[in-house]
Amino acid sequence: MIADTKYIGKSTRRVDGIKKVTGQAPYIAEFNPADLVHGYIINSTIAKGKITAIHKEKALQVPGVREIFTHENVPVEVKIDSDYTDPLAPPGNPFRPLYDENILYNGQPVAMVVADTFETAAFAAGLVQVEYEEEEAYEVDIRRNLDNATHEDVPEPPEPRGNAADAFNSSEVKIDTEYYQPREYHNPMEPFASVASWNEEEGSFSIYDKIQGVSSSQGYIAGIFNLEKEKVRVISPFIGGAFGSGLRPQYQLFFAAMASKALKLPVKVVMTRTQMFSFGHRPACLQRMKLSADKSGKLTSIRHQAFAETSRFEKFNETVVDWSGLMYQCENVALDYQLVPVDVYTPLDMRAPGGSTGMYALECAMDELAIEAGVDPLELRIINYAEKDQNEDKPFSSKELKACYQRAAEKFGWQKRKSEPRSIKQGNQLVGYGMASGVWEAMQQKSSAKAILTSEGKLTVSSGTADIGTGTYTIMSQIAAEILGLSIENVEFKLGDSTLPDAPIEGGSWTASSVGSAVKMVCSALQESIFELATQTHPDVFENKLIEDATFSNAGLSAGSGATISYAEIISSAEKKSIQVEVNSEPEDSRSNYSCYTHSCVMVEVHVDEDTGMISIPRVVNAIAGGKILNPKTAESQIIGGVTWGIGMALEEEGMMDSRNGRIMNANLAEYHVAVQADVKEIDVIFVEEQDDIVNPLGAKGLGEIGIVGVASAISNAIYNATGKRVRELPITLDKVL
Ligand code: MOS
Repeated sequence: MIADTKYIGKSTRRVDGIKKVTGQAPYIAEFNPADLVHGYIINSTIAKGKITAIHKEKALQVPGVREIFTHENVPVEVKIDSDYTDPLAPPGNPFRPLYDENILYNGQPVAMVVADTFETAAFAAGLVQVEYEEEEAYEVDIRRNLDNATHEDVPEPPEPRGNAADAFNSSEVKIDTEYYQPREYHNPMEPFASVASWNEEEGSFSIYDKIQGVSSSQGYIAGIFNLEKEKVRVISPFIGGAFGSGLRPQYQLFFAAMASKALKLPVKVVMTRTQMFSFGHRPACLQRMKLSADKSGKLTSIRHQAFAETSRFEKFNETVVDWSGLMYQCENVALDYQLVPVDVYTPLDMRAPGGSTGMYALECAMDELAIEAGVDPLELRIINYAEKDQNEDKPFSSKELKACYQRAAEKFGWQKRKSEPRSIKQGNQLVGYGMASGVWEAMQQKSSAKAILTSEGKLTVSSGTADIGTGTYTIMSQIAAEILGLSIENVEFKLGDSTLPDAPIEGGSWTASSVGSAVKMVCSALQESIFELATQTHPDVFENKLIEDATFSNAGLSAGSGATISYAEIISSAEKKSIQVEVNSEPEDSRSNYSCYTHSCVMVEVHVDEDTGMISIPRVVNAIAGGKILNPKTAESQIIGGVTWGIGMALEEEGMMDSRNGRIMNANLAEYHVAVQADVKEIDVIFVEEQDDIVNPLGAKGLGEIGIVGVASAISNAIYNATGKRVRELPITLDKVL
């Protein structure tokens, strides 16, 4: 326990903020090693078939063009002969760029032009002609392919409990509905980029890559090129957004490394915005919900079935239906999750993968059930509140969801809601209120960290984690400064380099808990080293004192009522330049006896123009129970970002596919709409008090994903309340409410 904190729990400005806003934080495409050449990737224009010819002659005549790589001249070592691995590929046959002439999806990378400048490479790429033999029969729509749905290689949801079908049939209140969400595409501000340099003498790679964890790129490249991991150094200091798109290495990394090794030159490959739509997406998903209750609203059965999209070659899966067995107390539950393979590229994680999908259906269905039962939707959640995790039959490590409901309702003014749709009007605006619950798992992974304290009193803590914009640099600096009683200006946190101590990829909302625990542990270990050293250098002050009596503050050590000796003096007195410790941390065993989750309550006000169907969202309140909040300022930003994305999911985001060629038609930011400033008005974030001594030594649960969960359902529910129209397909565009 850390009492009386100076940094932990206090709003702290981003330590990298000034670098970022003044352009001093280098993003991947800004690294320019000497003799750099540039690659420009060419993507297939058909969904399925074979490449029959690639005409490179014209492009090769352009001055400055170095080489054009296709499946015909890719070095053999990265093809059939290699022990090709892709550690983050889902089950199945991992996609291998330039593997052979077969086309598996529209947008598949088929060639890369390498030239002295990006412009030359892009121009020459336009002169390359690819001929195809097209296969007519391909499918891109899961709703037309439900007959091919499969459980094969798909993790099983929790076992059924009770008898949901019987309970449903004998219940007085019931709903049976279907919800659909389309494929959604990642659009981080920074496009994917890699700069790879092969060192022929050392047989090693030095790589800058946009990735959510350097270990991910390192493992991928080491696997493909059959190298020791130590021969692949990956650096990734700043990331301009990712949220799932950068967990699995993207194809530009393969191309940059392959070309660099072949040409013995550093190669940079940057995706275009259109190519950002060619490497994976949040899968389209069809969900069927059957809920029943008694007259009072007490749930008698829950059935949740999901059909999610995957590719033909990999089985991407996420946790979509399990939440329905977790969230509410119910004795009769049946869950089913199936995959529908179609001719698209494999989906990937996107903020709260599975959770934002499954909770969209569950929380819309709960709203529909509330209406059937004639119970207030908030009341319905409280009637069915789960005090323990029935999926796993375990208590929660902490769960302040009731406090979320209460605080959100107070702040939002939920009691002003009228249950009858179309009851409130302001001019020609129909006003509606809606709410939803949110949930996300609070995970913790193994993580390592190193700390070095110098004789100048400067502390450097490092771990091979990432900061995808969430504030990792800042919270880790806060933890270190707190434990050692240093001013945060004297602390530097290093990340994004595969030579640093091992850390998991930054995903799953587990970085604060995993790396944060390692940083806490390494700083506590450093306290011990300082104390031990001080008993030698300053025996007059510290002899016969115990570390339990020691205070680490004001950049120095004191014990009992004795003098404070600065760290600088202790280390100098020992005639050392620095002291150093390294630790490995992992989740405590006792954690496995509990279920650890973050919860939220989202409340939304929508306005729907009666004449045009235009929907706006003047107000969102999101109350979060996320354990200890390490930095309220960056934490609030996480939730605001999540809510904003949720608004896009509810009202705007949809990858539209041309069924004639399986191509995304709106592969640009003009036509693929994401929520922007004009779509976002008031977002109120509340963090409720939640003490958790079990989840990890910091008591912090992680906040990266929870902000988006529930938002699309709260908006859908509010639109029903405003208009009386239940739209069960996202995004809810104006044509659907008119
Ligand atoms: Mo997250 S979708 O695990 O970056």
